[in-house]
Amino acid sequence: MLMLWMPKKSSWCLLALAVVLTSLFAGGHQQDVVLAKDMKFKLHSRDLMPLVGFGTYQVRGADLIKDVLDKSFAAGYRLVDSAAVYGNEKEIGIALKELLPKHNLTRKDIFITTKLSPDDQGEKAYDALEKSLKNLDCEYIDLYLIHWPGKHGVNASKEENSVARDLSWQHMVKGVKNGLVRNIGVSNYNVRHMKELLGNNHGIKPAVNQVEWHPHYHQPELLELCKKEGVLLQAYSSLGGSDNRELLDNAEVKTIAGKLGKTPAQVLLRWALQQNIAIIPKARSQKHIEENIDLNFTIPEEDMKTLSSFSQKKYAWDPDTIA
Ligand SMILES: NC(=O)c1ccc[n+]([C@@H]2O[C@H](COP(=O)([O-])OP(=O)(O)OC[C@H]3O[C@@H](n4cnc5c(N)ncnc54)[C@H](OP(=O)(O)O)[C@@H]3O)[C@@H](O)[C@H]2O)c1
Ligand SMILES: *[C@@H]1O[C@H](CO)[C@@H](O)[C@H](O)[C@H]1NC(C)=O
Ligand SMILES: *[C@@H]1O[C@H](CO)[C@@H](O)[C@H](O)[C@H]1NC(C)=O
Ligand SMILES: *[C@@H]1O[C@H](CO)[C@@H](O)[C@H](O)[C@H]1NC(C)=O
Repeated sequence: MLMLWMPKKSSWCLLALAVVLTSLFAGGHQQDVVLAKDMKFKLHSRDLMPLVGFGTYQVRGADLIKDVLDKSFAAGYRLVDSAAVYGNEKEIGIALKELLPKHNLTRKDIFITTKLSPDDQGEKAYDALEKSLKNLDCEYIDLYLIHWPGKHGVNASKEENSVARDLSWQHMVKGVKNGLVRNIGVSNYNVRHMKELLGNNHGIKPAVNQVEWHPHYHQPELLELCKKEGVLLQAYSSLGGSDNRELLDNAEVKTIAGKLGKTPAQVLLRWALQQNIAIIPKARSQKHIEENIDLNFTIPEEDMKTLSSFSQKKYAWDPDTIA
């Protein structure tokens, strides 16, 4: 139809037509849902952090790491979540050398998180950060987290834990100043630990708090505090963790999944993402890796409410025990 009034051989008109068509599609309903792989959060540093990442707990060995990262980059993941205690930083570093060029990516296109071991909490924190950077063998780490509010080997009820994590934070602030890491944050911090850290005020606020978070365990008060302080809450064990099918087999999760034509895993991940909570699912098979980032759908409000009203129980370690 538009072609009818268009004079032939006029490239100017072709350009105008292209502009009209582009704006028609851009304004259309198709653009309403941002793809999960493109969802990002602006951290205090102004760095953009992908909301969907790839978890690597218990994913060890050079071949397995290379295989899952290859599949995850192909599927669109751009964030890799590691930790000193996962024992896979070196293998990730080696894999990146080969996989970045293979996927036409450079270092700045991906986001690498790793974590301070509870063994190195306190005075050893700076050396531990340097060691992780050396293991990963890249110019900088995007995000370094205090893995756990306690110090390994110290009685959980002791004040020494609080002193140690505060010292860790000061070393991590130095790590940012010296360019080893771009953003620093915490993991497994409860409201009390968060308030303590914010109150100590060492010049840099935590960028992220990575915590256990799924329909059977979520903490509205912690989410509220993080939002107020501009701290991104990042969920772990969204699917219930390894070797635990309780959430994946849950009847209500399955009903909602069936209704929406999605898998239970996709519903569990979308439930978090739809609340602007970041996710880092772990998977080994190509099918799971692909479906865990294929989250372009909306869970209706009533189903969100159902998922948010499950009985509460904790699967992973409990930071409330740490002074
Ligand atoms: N900061 C912390 O203290 C902490 C603690 C725990 C975890 N994390 C981080 O969070 C990441 C994720 O948590 P997680 O590893 O505990 O567990 P998760 O992501 O909740 O679940 C992983 C399990 O679900 C299976 N799975 C993955 N995709 C699936 C799908 N689409 N359908 C059915 N099953 C699926 C996986 O099996 P397959 O591998 O066989 O596919 C694996 O056994 C970790 O890898 C780690 O990076 C951090
Ligand atoms: C995202 O999902 C919506 C709703 O189903 C659909 O209209 C849109 O085309 C999808 N976008 C992409 C890029 O797949
Ligand atoms: C690689 O990325 C560059 C820059 O984004 C782009 O110009 C080029 O076409 C890409 N090449 C391939 C093979 O995808
Ligand atoms: C930790 O300290 C508490 C309080 O001092 C004490 O009751 C408990 O036995 C200690 N636990 C261990 C494992 O030492």
